[in-house]
Amino acid sequence: MNQSPIKVLGICCSPRKNGNTEVMLREALAGAEEAGARSELVTIGDKDIKGCDGCRGCDKTGRCHIKDDMQAIYPKVLEADGLIFGSPVYFWNVTGQAKVFMDRLVCLYRKSMLNNKVGGVIAVASSTGHAEVRSLYYSFFAANRMITADFVQGFAKDKGHIKKDRWAYAASRELGVKVASIAQARFKYPEAYHRSLNDMVKEKYGVESMPTDGRFDGSPVAAEMAPASRK
Ligand SMILES: Cc1cc2nc3c(=O)[nH]c(=O)nc-3n(C[C@H](O)[C@H](O)[C@H](O)COP(=O)(O)O)c2cc1C
Repeated sequence: MNQSPIKVLGICCSPRKNGNTEVMLREALAGAEEAGARSELVTIGDKDIKGCDGCRGCDKTGRCHIKDDMQAIYPKVLEADGLIFGSPVYFWNVTGQAKVFMDRLVCLYRKSMLNNKVGGVIAVASSTGHAEVRSLYYSFFAANRMITADFVQGFAKDKGHIKKDRWAYAASRELGVKVASIAQARFKYPEAYHRSLNDMVKEKYGVESMPTDGRFDGSPVAAEMAPASRK
């Protein structure tokens, strides 16, 4: 069966045009193309992207009502089989732009539309804070039932200095190859896990995850709560 080439989207969350993060992401996308993927880079720093306003309208629709540059990016995210997020470290975590972008993906999370996409992460810092970036994105991937590929850390402060980090350069290219190769394998979570564990427990046991919504109400014992199939 002939399947169309997979697509890898790089998302650069540095406000600095042609900065170190962008250099690493371009290298990763070159790697993805080398592995047979199509690729595209989206820069967030030059876009008008507002923060999520928490209206929860997307719970029902899977769409965000905020009319800004994010609307043109949603189709690119949906079309991609692999997503490589790149952020400089700002005070031991991602940039504000990166977090705003992540929050605006909640409408896709609500409808499980990021499921099975492959995720990679690139973080650049002058000295420290990479691990926090990795931790945030890995949690995001898990929440969205994405497949985690890998993480690359680069060390640079001034614009362009990342080119001196030989490891980061090579590892970025290899990250691109890896994201593309995993996407080509087309792994899928089993059908039952196309929703969150919260939703699954609610459906199967009738219990909400939030204490305010009855998590501790009543006095069920474990045996009584077990689904019929395990009794
Ligand atoms: C607001 C701000 C906060 C920063 N915080 C950190 C930090 O916590 N740790 C660190 O090692 N570097 C920090 N840096 C340095 C950047 O991570 C570094 O310059 C990086 O190369 C910038 O990437 P870019 O060229 O892609 O924008 C900070 C820079 C800025 C502007």
